[in-house]
Amino acid sequence: MSVSLPGTIHLERRRLVSRPIQRGPGYNRLRNMLIKKPDDIPSSEITPKSQYLSRRKFMFGAVATGAALAGGYYLRTSSEIDQPVAADGVKLSGIVKSQFSTTEKPTSFKDITNYNNYYEFSTDKYEPNGLARNFRTRPWTVKIDGHVKRAKTLDIDSIMKLAPLEERIYRHRCVEGWSMVIPWVGFPLSALINQAEPLGKAKFVAFETIKAPDQMPNQKRRDVLPWPYVEGLRMDEAMHPLAILVVGLYDEVLPNVDGAPLRLAVPWKYGFKSIKAIVRISFTDYMPPTTWNQMAPDEYGFYSNVNPTKDHPRWSQASERKIGASIFAAKQRTLMFNGYADQVAGLYSGMDLQKYY
Ligand code: MTE
Repeated sequence: MSVSLPGTIHLERRRLVSRPIQRGPGYNRLRNMLIKKPDDIPSSEITPKSQYLSRRKFMFGAVATGAALAGGYYLRTSSEIDQPVAADGVKLSGIVKSQFSTTEKPTSFKDITNYNNYYEFSTDKYEPNGLARNFRTRPWTVKIDGHVKRAKTLDIDSIMKLAPLEERIYRHRCVEGWSMVIPWVGFPLSALINQAEPLGKAKFVAFETIKAPDQMPNQKRRDVLPWPYVEGLRMDEAMHPLAILVVGLYDEVLPNVDGAPLRLAVPWKYGFKSIKAIVRISFTDYMPPTTWNQMAPDEYGFYSNVNPTKDHPRWSQASERKIGASIFAAKQRTLMFNGYADQVAGLYSGMDLQKYY
């Protein structure tokens, strides 16, 4: 029998948002499986992608040969497995460099587009690549509503012209203990917020991913996450110059697997705050519900700032494994606010970050 607990979230000012989540007996086990702790990530998932793919190609080839000999089955060829993903290769023009970029070497395009968390498609990191390939990103509109002067719907192509496109090479730290360096292309979220003309009572910004079960296989399932995926930021976080809306990667149109046509990147927070495939941005006077906080409020807070001194209840957050580095390379130390403390620590002055994790 499944019990329905109110997915209530305790807000700073005791305002409650409730959204029921079905929590059956296997709920805790399922929840713990969904975000993998570092020890659960198989070696295949921490192997540099190039090595992993060639190993998989080799193994698949061996299995294919055996199976074909035994039963004459049709099996995909290794070249089909190793297709580079998505990016239509459509170049974005007029991209300007940003003072906010890190000088660290970016992770390869291949790793960024083949090692993904995109639960609407799959909970396996290698599957979203293929499964999202035909995801439709046009026509695409984003609804802007809530406490704004006038609610409106913006077309993605006009959104892409709201501000000059910038290259932002950001560190990306997943709550699971791995990281990448990603050359996003986007513009400050503040440009869209200013265009939305929020009212004084707007204190938070809520984001929503598209609901398209016909295209996103896991949205047909009720045992993965509550859909649509939702996220939120406090207004001052959203207005911070480091918070960006992303439309591209490596100077090209954003690959589907990374959240095309529009996703968020908030580099000082764990990766799950950076919601993909956004179709709605709402301004609220209350702290909006967020997917992972609803799933496990004791593990994932609303803020979810990268914080090496606040361990996840099931693992340490003190260090991270860089995707693409040799499996023999030492883990690297995780930095407060993912290395962006100079710019963002002021947003949280006076707040107890052990409590507001
Ligand atoms: N947004 C949606 N809609 N669905 C998701 O499953 N996963 C989050 C975040 N945004 C996710 C999402 C997580 S856990 C991470 S780490 C990042 O996207 C991964 O982004 P990437 O696949 O582009 O590296």
